[in-house]
Amino acid sequence: MSAAERAGEPAARPAPEPAGDMDGPWSSTVRRDGAGALSVGSVPLAAIAEEFGTPAYVVDLDDLRARSRAYAAAFEDAFSAENGLAGADVYYAGKALLTVGIARAVAECGLRVDTSTGGELAVALRAGVPGAHIGLHGNNKSDAEISAAIDAGVGRIVVDSLAEIDRVEMLAAERGTSVPVMVRVTTGVHAGGHEFIATAHEDQKFGLSLASGAAAEAIRRILARPALELVGIHSHIGSQILDLAGFEAAARAVLTLRADVHREHGTLVPEVDLGGGYGIRYTGTETVPPSPALIASTLADVVSRVCTEVGTPVPRISIEPGRSVVGPAGLTLYRVGTIKDVALGEGRSRRYVSVDGGMSDHIRTALYGAQYTAALANRAAPAGAVPARVVGKHCESGDIVVDHVALPDDVARGDLLAVPATGAYGRSMSSQYNLVPRPPVVGVEGGGARVLVRRETVDDLLGLDLDA
Ligand SMILES: Cc1ncc(COP(=O)(O)O)c(C=O)c1O
Repeated sequence: MSAAERAGEPAARPAPEPAGDMDGPWSSTVRRDGAGALSVGSVPLAAIAEEFGTPAYVVDLDDLRARSRAYAAAFEDAFSAENGLAGADVYYAGKALLTVGIARAVAECGLRVDTSTGGELAVALRAGVPGAHIGLHGNNKSDAEISAAIDAGVGRIVVDSLAEIDRVEMLAAERGTSVPVMVRVTTGVHAGGHEFIATAHEDQKFGLSLASGAAAEAIRRILARPALELVGIHSHIGSQILDLAGFEAAARAVLTLRADVHREHGTLVPEVDLGGGYGIRYTGTETVPPSPALIASTLADVVSRVCTEVGTPVPRISIEPGRSVVGPAGLTLYRVGTIKDVALGEGRSRRYVSVDGGMSDHIRTALYGAQYTAALANRAAPAGAVPARVVGKHCESGDIVVDHVALPDDVARGDLLAVPATGAYGRSMSSQYNLVPRPPVVGVEGGGARVLVRRETVDDLLGLDLDA
């Protein structure tokens, strides 16, 4: 056992080598070249740093497409009529990362787009995603957001409270139209890695509780409103879930509610959405994430079984993965600056490796204690390794990008570090803290790289300040 482990800390491990597969933290096209430097989609990361600067979010669009196609194909197969099922749709959860280019890429691969704000809705529409293939979520949608969704003809507004039913109905009635709505149900199933990202236990802001009867009441009210068309029941149980048992439990609860609604009202709700939350590997030490094919066949099996048990025809199914579509497709490229060795006592020390970004482009470590890894990107690493913490340039001691990782002991100012699996909830949760302009999103595809979203500049920041 190392001194660090004796002190209660996990051992600092080096990043796993890119394996060219879909199960690890690296996108499937990341490789080390003969000289030991990393490339993505045949483009050296050093060339991306040279051309676009650092820090930069780098998204492997070919890998993103492969993951999107894998989801679309797996759900089409598993939920086919030949299997006695009624079809399925995969909505990409835009909250993970949404740009016009990303929305186009996933839509081309057969995915629909789930949005949770007017901003995400606007980007999906600008990308040319048909309104009917877009859903709108949100626990506190504004009238402007609901109106924009109705005007765009979205395929579903996911109602999150009893009060929202009246507001959607009023806005629909003003337009003389009827609006497709789903009801978001909290099933009580609790899954996922962290309190703040486990969204279906009862004491939380999302959804309508199954146990209290609020979900049934919402359905009763919607069925009584001619301007609202109840198209589905929705459940999202959490995030970064690597075990499918929680989804099976939630599916059972929602399908049972659907059968109750059928008995009570004679209405067969056409669709059930089982949400997103499928986990990925961030460091390579996590268990192997379920593949889209395993997710689809597991859900198809539970839907068939429960519908037989409760005596209702099967519904159409939808899911909303975000992280597992775009997370491993992305990495963040930083340049190393200040390096400090800090003595921890008992012969232990930690090397603090500062990079040119930090918590403004990467908040999940500070917010959730999320674990990441990092690897030298511009050259081969010699054999020796040192326990290191990768930190940012912000004025917070909690400004940590990677909490513990073994880095080559000759890591030096000017080196490039790549942090894998930052495609989801990196850029989308970024801020301008300390007035650090946001990094660009660089897309790599077909052997070349291009900017999807440009780097912010200090002029952008000053441009927002009307006293400037
Ligand atoms: C309603 C809903 N759907 C889908 C997602 C996407 O989850 P993930 O990116 O973990 O797949 C979330 C994430 O918070 C969510 O709240």
